[in-house]
Amino acid sequence: MKTMQTIAIIGASGNMGAAISKSLSKGNYRLLLCAQGQDKVQAVVEEIKSGHPAADVKSIDCSLEASWEADIIVVAVPFAAEKEVAQKIQEVANQKIVISISNPLNDTYNGLVTAPDTSAAEELQKLLPNAKIVKAFNTTFAADFATPVIDGKQADAFIAGNDEDALQIASELVSTAGFNPIVAGDLSVSRTLENMQLLLIQLNMKYNYNWLAGWKILHQ
Ligand SMILES: NC(=O)c1ccc[n+]([C@@H]2O[C@H](COP(=O)([O-])OP(=O)(O)OC[C@H]3O[C@@H](n4cnc5c(N)ncnc54)[C@H](OP(=O)(O)O)[C@@H]3O)[C@@H](O)[C@H]2O)c1
Repeated sequence: MKTMQTIAIIGASGNMGAAISKSLSKGNYRLLLCAQGQDKVQAVVEEIKSGHPAADVKSIDCSLEASWEADIIVVAVPFAAEKEVAQKIQEVANQKIVISISNPLNDTYNGLVTAPDTSAAEELQKLLPNAKIVKAFNTTFAADFATPVIDGKQADAFIAGNDEDALQIASELVSTAGFNPIVAGDLSVSRTLENMQLLLIQLNMKYNYNWLAGWKILHQ
């Protein structure tokens, strides 16, 4: 039997962190949830436990400790907070898979704050040079996790990274969360993925899709 992996979710009380935590609690994972305000994290743990009493999930008030215990670290904080988080976990993130979910949007949602020749994921890789950064979950809205289905088909979720094993493990996470994982390319493809979500956000605002829009590649 496969060894149970431990996943630290930093920012677990937020829209995305809570959605990822809830969806992964259905898989064979041990989840360690943390954020800055521990009360809100504990509320997420209790919600998960009320639906899945057997779920292996607990709140932990220190992102360093959670990341030290983890095999995989999901950084589910705003882009602006990633530097602070990376500094905290740097000493324990070596060789671990670190999932970058962020979209580095500017204040008016009409552009990204990152330069065109980089991405939030690549910036996180610079901050954590010995970690295996994988971009995932940035093209899915938090609201999509409850029913990751578009027109009766499983919604796609794109993944990018440089390490084959890490991409495989991230694909399993995405699949456990209910999405169809598509490996889009190496970490530099995160630039495209982050721009894709910027476009979707802009279309959402323009056409009022109610934040349930997602991506589905149609092929026959
Ligand atoms: N919302 C979406 O649909 C969506 C979709 C795709 C990707 N994303 C990306 O997902 C990330 C989170 O977005 P969100 O909408 O979930 O944001 P959110 O609801 O504001 O949640 C942010 C989370 O990060 C935590 N946090 C903030 N600063 C922190 C720090 N310095 N150390 C530890 N935890 C910290 C917050 O906890 P405290 O309240 O305790 O500070 C909270 O749990 C962003 O990078 C965003 O671009 C969001």
